[in-house]
Amino acid sequence: MRIVVLVSGTGSNLQAVIDAATSGELDVEIAAVGADREGTYGVERASEAGLETFVINFNSFPTREEWDAALTARVASYAPDVVVSSGFMRIVSADFINAFNGKYLNTHPALLPSFPGAHGVRDAMAYGVKVTGCTVHWADAGMDTGPIVAQEAVVIEDADTEETLHEKIKVVERRLLIATLASLAAASSPAGRG
Ligand code: GRF
Repeated sequence: MRIVVLVSGTGSNLQAVIDAATSGELDVEIAAVGADREGTYGVERASEAGLETFVINFNSFPTREEWDAALTARVASYAPDVVVSSGFMRIVSADFINAFNGKYLNTHPALLPSFPGAHGVRDAMAYGVKVTGCTVHWADAGMDTGPIVAQEAVVIEDADTEETLHEKIKVVERRLLIATLASLAAASSPAGRG
């Protein structure tokens, strides 16, 4: 199973996928890692791992539509079976998702449909919920919407800050993402199909 991973930030979840693929724990080929802006640590991690990288800089395009079309073309050039949004902080169009037959997987640091958006951890704390978590889902063109594949709860402790809670969520998020990719890879292998 070939994947392209999209990042906007530090890429710690990406690193976990790289490590699992390198060790053989995860049977996927990371065809490329892309970002929506220059200078992300995620792309740097991918380069260090010897992976193909690209940047389709959102701010270099006059319109969102042109950026989206350029991203679609670049990702499609790698012919991925699944595209993974791993902390990719941009909404993509329905055309993008259709180009990959809906196989656009997103991870979110909250129990969707609660607390969608860029501040899922902060918003859960501000609301005062005692349990939050993470979600792996097939993304559609909405904001953190689409069919849920896996979820796991994380308890919020009184002493948690946004940072400590997000770190706890990310530990679970990485495990869920890798398990989801592993089961997709198994299902797409010749044995899985047979
Ligand atoms: C993850 O929690 C992801 O769900 C959220 O941003 C975080 C990305 O972290 N959208 P990293 O870039 O993988 O370290």
